[in-house]
Amino acid sequence: MSFALEDLPYAYDALAPYMSAETLEFHHDKHHMAYVTNGNKLLEGSGLEGKSLEEIVKESYGTNPGLFNNAGQHLNHLHFWKWMKPNGGGTSLPGVLAKKIDEDLGGFDKFRSEFINAGLTQFGSGWAWLAVKDGKLAVMKTPNGENPIVHGATPILGCDVWEHSYYIDYRNARPKYLEAFVDNLINWEHVEELYSAAV
Ligand SMILES: [Fe+2]
Repeated sequence: MSFALEDLPYAYDALAPYMSAETLEFHHDKHHMAYVTNGNKLLEGSGLEGKSLEEIVKESYGTNPGLFNNAGQHLNHLHFWKWMKPNGGGTSLPGVLAKKIDEDLGGFDKFRSEFINAGLTQFGSGWAWLAVKDGKLAVMKTPNGENPIVHGATPILGCDVWEHSYYIDYRNARPKYLEAFVDNLINWEHVEELYSAAV
């Protein structure tokens, strides 16, 4: 396989004012594109050319850092665009998922503060996650391009906390960006689809 950049699932200005067209133009067209271009160069001759993206990420972890960083970020961003939608976020999540969040995480409010806190306390670049591990939901964080699949978990929601994701719109206010992501951007239907596939 080779990596390819998909179009955004909405217009560049569709997520404003929570995420601007300028942010999406830089983040999708330049940053994500660079992961695709560099990932394809590093995939050549790696011995992993015939594998799926998930397999490439898992198998390059700890063995081929250059390929891992770019393939991991390609995988993370493929989902990141789908984890957002206009008029998203808030508490209007599908019932099955709401019930599971109540059971495993002690309710939506606790999930919200734990998820935001994971993003805030990820020192430097990385991601905040909601993942399924051993049949239970867990909030996680990872550095750089790491994805929970390298830790035996299946991500169903992730928020990019690299500065390139928020600096144009929020400058250094990472907390405000994370709050806007949870309250106004999350595409809970896509989260639910991934949850159903994971369990
Ligand atoms: Fe990013």
